[in-house]
Amino acid sequence: MSCVQSWPEPIVRVQSLSESGIRTIPDRYIKHLSDRPLFTGNSPAVNKVNIPTIDLNSLFSGDGAVRRETCELISGACREWGFFQVINHGVDLKLMGGMQEAWREFFHLPLEEKQRYANSPTTYEGYGSRLGVVKEAKLDWSDYFFLHFLPEPLRDPSKWPRLPVSCRELVAKYGEEVVKLCEKLTRILSVSLGLKEDALHQAFGGDENRGACLRVNFYPKCPQPDLTLGISPHSDPGGMTLLLPDADVAGLQVRHAGQWVTVKPVPNAFIVNMGDQMQVLTNGMYKSVEHRVIVNSGKERVSLALFYNPGGETVVKPLEELVTEERPAIYPAMTFNQYRSFIRTRGPCGKSQVESLKSPR
Ligand code: OGA
Ligand code: NI
Repeated sequence: MSCVQSWPEPIVRVQSLSESGIRTIPDRYIKHLSDRPLFTGNSPAVNKVNIPTIDLNSLFSGDGAVRRETCELISGACREWGFFQVINHGVDLKLMGGMQEAWREFFHLPLEEKQRYANSPTTYEGYGSRLGVVKEAKLDWSDYFFLHFLPEPLRDPSKWPRLPVSCRELVAKYGEEVVKLCEKLTRILSVSLGLKEDALHQAFGGDENRGACLRVNFYPKCPQPDLTLGISPHSDPGGMTLLLPDADVAGLQVRHAGQWVTVKPVPNAFIVNMGDQMQVLTNGMYKSVEHRVIVNSGKERVSLALFYNPGGETVVKPLEELVTEERPAIYPAMTFNQYRSFIRTRGPCGKSQVESLKSPR
């Protein structure tokens, strides 16, 4: 993993910058012209399309025909978008609301309290304000909190916020429920690929080794939202991401057919997307899709991303059943820890990492 011990420059909390009342943002956050989002005045460009919404109700009832239909919808959404929203997903809505509220409260605690958890690039666990250790890199307009939930030996609730008092218990419950949903989705995805139901689950390392971590993103109000981004374009390095977006403020944009499409969150839904490891395992049948986050001047935004990943030492390579003479393996074998060290060093870089792995044909 990354051997860098500390950040290359002093860390500035974006929230503190925002709350200081500045009217213009520091140069470090001003993106190059071609990387800036499209704004008309103070509003982002609007789009009519949205990512597909899929009702998972049939996964909890016994009806095989409807279940197959849901499976088809998921498979179609993975191929066309790499992103979809799920409703009737079985996760307790009160728990979801409770998490959003608790984490909003955390970010509004005094700075000294949050600094107890200040993170470093060795593990990224804790309170952070940048991704990547490249000196003088352009920075994103967000702070975050990152923690491990699975595998069990990496879980250390003493590194999770002690305040608000409900936080640790909520994270434990939420992690458990969302991981269950992730496992269910990997089973559906396996079936949709013509594989045994537990093929992806085993490829992630099974019950013992699979990983899950939570990244809570905090996007403070920004006086010049047209010049910067909350998160630069990237694909998620892991297996699959379940995002609980802010109920009131949009911000996530997905690259689709060459355009940035702003996702309109459906109430109480999770946004699901495929990560790079899924692209490798499926030998490119399901692709991770580039996405980014825009910010705004009127309202802060909180989102919770649960990353469901192969174990750190699990070797990930195209599944044998999906490799044929016509479709030879296009990605080499690599552990997830090896893979992840790239984004942790270089920061968000679109899809350049997974693309660079492709063997010449
Ligand atoms: C991420 C991410 C999107 C969002 O954390 O990787 O893409 O809407 N978040 O916060
Ligand atoms: Ni992401």
